[in-house]
Amino acid sequence: MRIIFVVFLLLSFVKAEDFITKMEYAKMLYSNPRGIGCNKCHGEQGNGEIIAKYKNKGKKIVLKAPSINSISFSVFDQALKKTHKVMPTYFLTENEIEILYFYVTSEANK
Ligand code: HEC
Repeated sequence: MRIIFVVFLLLSFVKAEDFITKMEYAKMLYSNPRGIGCNKCHGEQGNGEIIAKYKNKGKKIVLKAPSINSISFSVFDQALKKTHKVMPTYFLTENEIEILYFYVTSEANK
């Protein structure tokens, strides 16, 4: 009897996962895109953030992640497919890139 209950419980978790909204999924992916979260550098709303400030040979350097919530889809898409100096390379599917774009540009996120 107990095993049936456990199976039922597991099944209901699987089912529950079907019901997360697109927005919830998008937010999850933004903070955990199989690697360091986009939010860590670009901020929760994708407004861009200062990552670090340091001095190099007496010069003050400010390392900043740009705002990514008002750029076109093609710029967004291309940026995620190339390698960068600071930003890590991700291996996202086309669908994941679209969902991330939906997230950062959506009004609900602002
Ligand atoms: C370690 C910090 C860091 C993380 C994490 C990070 N980025 Fe970036 N991102 C940057 C920096 C810095 C740039 C500026 C360009 C560069 O590094 O070449 C950038 C550039 C971009 C651009 C190009 C913007 C433009 O106007 O051309 C996009 C789009 C972008 N990031 C999206 C993302 C997304 C989506 C994620 C998560 C999957 C992410 N970034 C994770 C630091 C980060």
